[in-house]
Amino acid sequence: MTNLVVIGTQWGDEGKGKIVDLLSARADTIVRFQGGHNAGHTLVIGDQIFKLSLLPSGIVRENRCTVIGNGVVLDPWKLVEEIDLLRSKGISIDPERLIISENTPLILPFHRELDVLREKASGKKKIGTTGRGIGPAYEDKVGRRALRSGDLKTVGEIKSRIRAMADHHNMLRLGYNQKVINEDLIFQEIMEIREDIIEYVGPVWQLLNDQIKAGKNLLFEGAQGSMLDVDFGTYPFVTSSSTLAGAASTGTGVSHNKIQSVLGITKAYTTRVGKGPMPTELFDEVGQLLSKIGKEKGTVTGRDRRCGWFDAPLVKRSCILNGVTGIALTKIDVLDRLEKIKICVGYRTKEKVLNEFPLSSNLVGAIEPIYEEMDGWHCNTSGMKKLSQLPNEARKYVDRIEKFLETKVTLISTGPERDETIFLEDPFL
Ligand code: GDP
Ligand code: IMO
Ligand code: MG
Repeated sequence: MTNLVVIGTQWGDEGKGKIVDLLSARADTIVRFQGGHNAGHTLVIGDQIFKLSLLPSGIVRENRCTVIGNGVVLDPWKLVEEIDLLRSKGISIDPERLIISENTPLILPFHRELDVLREKASGKKKIGTTGRGIGPAYEDKVGRRALRSGDLKTVGEIKSRIRAMADHHNMLRLGYNQKVINEDLIFQEIMEIREDIIEYVGPVWQLLNDQIKAGKNLLFEGAQGSMLDVDFGTYPFVTSSSTLAGAASTGTGVSHNKIQSVLGITKAYTTRVGKGPMPTELFDEVGQLLSKIGKEKGTVTGRDRRCGWFDAPLVKRSCILNGVTGIALTKIDVLDRLEKIKICVGYRTKEKVLNEFPLSSNLVGAIEPIYEEMDGWHCNTSGMKKLSQLPNEARKYVDRIEKFLETKVTLISTGPERDETIFLEDPFL
């Protein structure tokens, strides 16, 4: 029995969905523990493509239990939409297969409105959020006003939570010249949607701990990436949740010492969507090539992802913060055509050389990367399944990354499909 957390080590979109889908063949239960429908996880399974935002990627496999933990913020309308879409593609979803924690805070329409209003009013200082209401919903959670999925069972609780949130939000809305919240309308909308949600709500923390006792394998699916973490990311250009492996514990009720392995999903180059500093960003034809070959367009908002060279100190920091036990290096095939490949191994400021990725966003915005250059491999690695097939230069690239990170690469991904993968070590160990 091994319980494994999968997290992104960069700024999200590292390929977590593909890897979670792949590994869910060996897991009994797949658990989302933070974030919300700001996530976009793409699974390519034969001629079918699934784009999941809220449902754990394990949902597409039969007989898997999937769980949404208390660390998630849940838009019930979006969830119902996603369930309907999957059902239309032949996936069965019922309360045996999907369980939502009673403590999961809900995203309501006024959270989304506030997210968008704030971004519009922020001008050049905008974060570039996904506009899904994620930040405002987490604010209400820590402000102790949120409506949680378990509250849906009690009409009085729904009313009193709406009241508490309206008191707070109406003050904010006034500042944006918006009408006050129509509490009756929100109440009616919630009463309608609750019929579709309530059957899935249950005591997740107990269920998961019982499953562990019974020797089941749990797979925790992170969303976003470590550099978007609200504490350790490039603050304030971050999301509003803890995206690190530790959140798998606080976001579900499974204690940290029940989780043995942490797989850090790491793209073979760097991408970022939204605003904020990115030291290795490329504005030249190499950046355009990575974007084109890597199909680097955001799943959720359709925005172009910014592309750049691999930033090794950044990933090293993630390895430490998450306690990464193995790296899954993804999208190596995207580098196939490059003559030379650069790896950032440190940074330069006007005054000094830095060996570590800085914590302060201002400093991250002011540093110049120091690169090592390696030869490219100029051949097609797409779809490779064995290490022996990888060209020498590609193996050297993997070795250099492994050495810098002082962490083993346990899996290399060579394409979006399940079998386009080289397994080096068992990630569940
Ligand atoms: P996530 O948010 O971390 O789950 O990543 P996304 O799904 O948003 O973005 C990763 C994209 O890369 C998806 O379209 C995947 O299908 C695709 N992908 C995943 N692994 C590989 C790979 O090894 N090679 C290539 N070419 N594409 C990949
Ligand atoms: P996955 O799980 C990439 C970014 C947004 C924005 C910042 C804050 O697919 O890797 P938010 O809406 O969360 O308040 O936006 O975080 N962001 C992501 N970037 N992948 C994601 O998820 C992201 N989720 C949020 O672009 O910069
Ligand atoms: Mg994504």
